[in-house]
Amino acid sequence: MGGKLNACVNAVDRHVEAGNGDRVAFHFVGEPGDRQDTTYAELHEKVQRAANALIALGVETGDRVAIYLPMIPESVVAMLACARLGAPHSVVFGGFSADALRTRIADGEAKVVITADGGFRKGKAATLKPAVDKAISGDTTVTNVLVVRRTESDVDMVEGRDLWWHEALEAVEPTHTPEYFDSEHPLFILYTSGTTGKPKGILHTTGGYLTQTAFTSKYVHDIHPEKDVYWCTADVGWVTGHSYVSYGPMALGATQVIYEGTPDSPHKGRWWEIVQDLGVTIFYTAPTAIRACMKWGRDIPDGYDLSSLRVLGSVGEPINPEAWVWYSEVVGHGKAPIVDTWWQTETGAVMISPMPGVTSTRPGSAQLAIPGIEVDVVDESGASVPDGSGGYLVVKEPWPAMLRGIWGDPERYVDTYWSRFEEFYFAGDGAKKDSDGNIWVLGRVDDVMNVSGHRLSTSEIESALVSHSSVAEAAVVGANDPMTGQAVCAFVILRGEAVAAGDQQGEELVTALRNHVADRIGPIAKPRQIMVVAELPKTRSGKIMRRLLRDVAEKRDVGDVTTLADSTVMDAISAEMKEN
Ligand code: WTA
Repeated sequence: MGGKLNACVNAVDRHVEAGNGDRVAFHFVGEPGDRQDTTYAELHEKVQRAANALIALGVETGDRVAIYLPMIPESVVAMLACARLGAPHSVVFGGFSADALRTRIADGEAKVVITADGGFRKGKAATLKPAVDKAISGDTTVTNVLVVRRTESDVDMVEGRDLWWHEALEAVEPTHTPEYFDSEHPLFILYTSGTTGKPKGILHTTGGYLTQTAFTSKYVHDIHPEKDVYWCTADVGWVTGHSYVSYGPMALGATQVIYEGTPDSPHKGRWWEIVQDLGVTIFYTAPTAIRACMKWGRDIPDGYDLSSLRVLGSVGEPINPEAWVWYSEVVGHGKAPIVDTWWQTETGAVMISPMPGVTSTRPGSAQLAIPGIEVDVVDESGASVPDGSGGYLVVKEPWPAMLRGIWGDPERYVDTYWSRFEEFYFAGDGAKKDSDGNIWVLGRVDDVMNVSGHRLSTSEIESALVSHSSVAEAAVVGANDPMTGQAVCAFVILRGEAVAAGDQQGEELVTALRNHVADRIGPIAKPRQIMVVAELPKTRSGKIMRRLLRDVAEKRDVGDVTTLADSTVMDAISAEMKEN
């Protein structure tokens, strides 16, 4: 109790003071091929300047700063500078739309936004700043915008509000004396999808979060900072990029790779080329990416020297055994252990995982809780299920990096996590135990979908669809997809007026609706499929039965329809599907 710390000092200053200032913190690889190494000493100066620049804009301890950047070193610098000031950051994934950014900025009441002119994606410069302008137009809490120059594209700068990041950092002192904060001081808010339309601002604090991210970086990823080159491919817009790019590895003083682009640009061997060129030893990615690489064929990774790899990690969704085996054999040459790590935005750090070199692995199972963590699989009544059975995944004891709440909504915090079972944290996942007690995580049991390892809410996409003038009602389900794990499938009922007025129909309308969802949330939320139907299956109390729609989307026989208010609805939908 009463301990004080500064997360940025732990991630940066400490390593410089220990004499490791010359160690590379980041090997940055830009998508167009530009390279830039940053040592811990250089990073030290950058975070101090960035902290001073934020102070110059009036940012004080406790103020929120929104960060909307591509995957470039400045993203980590910006996060650590906020941490240095005790100003919680709220990172918003650069792939989210202006509308999604607006909601998150407004909910967190951010004072400053840090963004860039844009970033490189699939060989092109994509813009970011216009989305910020749109997101803070009209009433806003934002007083200033700092803009990193990345793509050199034209940017409208608002006089008195917008500043270039490089100029702001040049204009201030290179040193900053840190303050130390209570271990429970808020470190960040990160929005994630829940079961209602509104994203939840997950709140993490400093001491426990840093402890568990550092512990797991050391013992699960097995980072030895003096010799490893570590690469986590996640974007800082997601929790994996927070815990396993900006905090855990940095707390250990690791050398890591930051790569701006996608695995297939400009060619499908891009990741393996980076592993070979930089001698990456620890690699952490998502099953969806591994499945994509599998599809492209083993000849591609076989063309590179991957012998430096010694630990491989997986995160974000269940990894199917085929992908696990391919990852192990083709990428790890059968000698690099795989750590399949289960955790969530809410848990802050890895909770279930094999320990590399210790646990004998099972392809497809995250296996056992790491030391100090108590998880279980329980039935409806909260009783632990025997080995060989399935149920709900729960955490039975508090853990260091656990979320401390939902920003501004204590009631939702209790409802979401602490009301399903009285005494346990309810993770929202289904799981089973095998005959040896290993845990196999099966996927979400609530209205949250997992598409390419990204969490999306069915109701958030439904709200986006019904905000379109042609749509009267919408139901969204996550259907199994061989590449992305799940895919977004939407069923919509059109407004009578829209049909009568001969507004867009058919393919044209479907395209318009998909684009509308991209505008409202972001391209990652675009439905794979949108089906126009006359009715939706509902219970007598008016609840949409998504289970039945999932049967249709996954082309299965439709299950039990006896609880439907009108049992003929499913016949009509199935018939319509057959026609299509
Ligand atoms: C899923 C990502 C199976 C799970 C760190 C969880 C997994 C949700 C695994 C959290 C895994 C994550 N095996 N499922 N190894 N890792 N999940 O908040 O459904 O983006 O509840 O955090 O991803 O997603 P989030």
